[in-house]
Amino acid sequence: MATLTYYGHSTWALETKGATILMDPFFTGNPLAPVAASAITASFIILTHAHGDHYGDTVEIAKRTGATLISCFEIVNYCQKQGVANAQPMGHGGGHMFPFGRVKLTVAHHGSSFPDGTYGGNPAGVLLEIEGKRLYNAGDTALFSDMSLIGEGGLDVALLPIGDNFTMGPEDAAIAAKLLRARTVIPEHYNTWPVLNQDAEAFKRRVEAATDTRVAILKPGDKFEIK
Ligand code: NI
Ligand code: MN
Repeated sequence: MATLTYYGHSTWALETKGATILMDPFFTGNPLAPVAASAITASFIILTHAHGDHYGDTVEIAKRTGATLISCFEIVNYCQKQGVANAQPMGHGGGHMFPFGRVKLTVAHHGSSFPDGTYGGNPAGVLLEIEGKRLYNAGDTALFSDMSLIGEGGLDVALLPIGDNFTMGPEDAAIAAKLLRARTVIPEHYNTWPVLNQDAEAFKRRVEAATDTRVAILKPGDKFEIK
């Protein structure tokens, strides 16, 4: 059984078969993070894009733990120059089988430059197939109708940004939920700063009134078992 842990904003850990996969490890400077980056271990790190609120502590954690960074070519290239030893560059639309399961990068409509301005390629979403379950993390993105394609193989969990301003807000995320048809949607990228404040309970009511999808609202530090 795979277990998700939410660290606030868009930071997640996925534990499966003895592997810990971090996604967008933003601890330092994340007002919602319940733990410090130094307390985090990982065997893999998946980075959706290069913005500081996602790139975060990637290099520190990767160097300390030896975790393998999985991301697009430009992000991997940049992080290797910062001393990250283990990495697997990928391209959008491409998938790869890792010891824990399959990872595919999907498109996202957003930007992707590093905090120092370096070009980070194009932003991604992530489709994971682990222990027979399928999880989609949309990353930072606008709504796009091809989400219906991403949902075609069936989704157990979809992580969707609802913060508005920089990404989809709750109205568009509710449309995304319709297109994706996941069993469970979990909102992310909200309430980190005042500009991202949203009512997750209202989002839950909106989605559950319109679809068969259930919405699970996680507080930072909460876990969710993907059954
Ligand atoms: Ni971003
Ligand atoms: Mn962001």
